[in-house]
Amino acid sequence: MRAVDLIRKKRDGMELTGEEIGYLIKGYSEGEIPDYQMAAWAMAVYYQGMSARETADLTLHMASSGDMIDLASIRGVKVDKHSTGGVGDKTTIVIGPLVAAAGVPVAKMSGRGLGHTGGTIDKLEAIRGFSVELGQEQFFRQVNEIGLAVVGQSGNMTPADKKLYGLRDVTATVDSIPLIASSVMSKKIAAGADAIVLDVKTGSGAFMKTLDDSIRLAKAMVDIGTQVGRSTIAVISDMDQPLGYGIGNALEIQEAIATLRGEGPKDLEEVCLILASHMLVLGGMAESEEEARAILQQKLESGEALDRLKMMVEAQGGDISQIENAELLPQAELHVEVKAETAGFVESIQAEEIGIAAMLLGAGRETKDSVIDLAAGLTLRKKIGDPVEVGEVLAVLHLNSSYEVRLEEASRKVREAYGISDDKVPRRPLVFALVT
Ligand code: URA
Repeated sequence: MRAVDLIRKKRDGMELTGEEIGYLIKGYSEGEIPDYQMAAWAMAVYYQGMSARETADLTLHMASSGDMIDLASIRGVKVDKHSTGGVGDKTTIVIGPLVAAAGVPVAKMSGRGLGHTGGTIDKLEAIRGFSVELGQEQFFRQVNEIGLAVVGQSGNMTPADKKLYGLRDVTATVDSIPLIASSVMSKKIAAGADAIVLDVKTGSGAFMKTLDDSIRLAKAMVDIGTQVGRSTIAVISDMDQPLGYGIGNALEIQEAIATLRGEGPKDLEEVCLILASHMLVLGGMAESEEEARAILQQKLESGEALDRLKMMVEAQGGDISQIENAELLPQAELHVEVKAETAGFVESIQAEEIGIAAMLLGAGRETKDSVIDLAAGLTLRKKIGDPVEVGEVLAVLHLNSSYEVRLEEASRKVREAYGISDDKVPRRPLVFALVT
């Protein structure tokens, strides 16, 4: 077999066999196929697409290119949740404890943030002492004991995806639905879950800006899950404005804790309840979404979900006094208000611009090696549909003095991110579709 023939075959719109895809992935991982040939193949896929079967084959070859985690020693149906990334998305920190309190084990591997989106692992590190690196034995033991562990990706998982994603990033081939779907699903499959709930974001802060593209991506991922024997469903949720009000690591932990106390923003609570309900059904703990929701609401109201977060924080070496009193989480030195210059109703909030503003203040990474400031970020005061007067506060920036040089740029970004209309604006739906 020769790579050039497979590139030509894909370029001409033909379907590659599983063996041919395996040859490309293995050859590329082992350094036998050079970057320029793999880049040409990725561009051919970008234009010609891949069939559902090819996409599933690519996923499985990438999943098995490194360690495959076997969660068999954890009791129960292991259900994973994955979000395609957004701004202010702290759902894992709410859903993990909530679902664990309802009896579905959560053995979660999460990522760090890059660019305008944050990562769960960075957020959890805002809790003093919290370790995101557990040995596999300890990871399994903790899930069996308290039903919940959230760790960073360790070992050598999906190296083929890592290498290919890096190449796609610099060859304008990231935004190909089969390549995104196989990249995401290869990691989920290698992480070992029995069932997967996907939260596919749509809108200005998401990978997929239109509902149609988000549904196509969701279908591609659900198809892969089905073909490889992992029950998978996808919820298409709104990312046309940030989720909740807090953006930034400690600020998001604070909001997640408030949500587990039943005092969080309603949009965040609702998205969490929807995703968690699906997890309970797939995990066999409820027959229907309605039944699941009733169980989850009881876990919130009784405080059991918050207790579960405390158990996880304690088990992973974190300081639970910061969960009991969120004011003890890292706090920024400066708080600067961004005020409205026009009156009306908030019509849009460019979530990506808000994420970039938070990054400029230190909350996110500009490059893989940037060091983040856990206290930095911003708190929105207005969301879509809210009325606003001239001079009213749209958002508060949280920053430490070493980032003051970025203040003007960040303030401008936030102000420009807000679209204000003269007319009343309806609230946006939180969820647009369910793909099964
Ligand atoms: N996230 C991934 O993990 N892979 C992609 O290709 C895009 C987003």
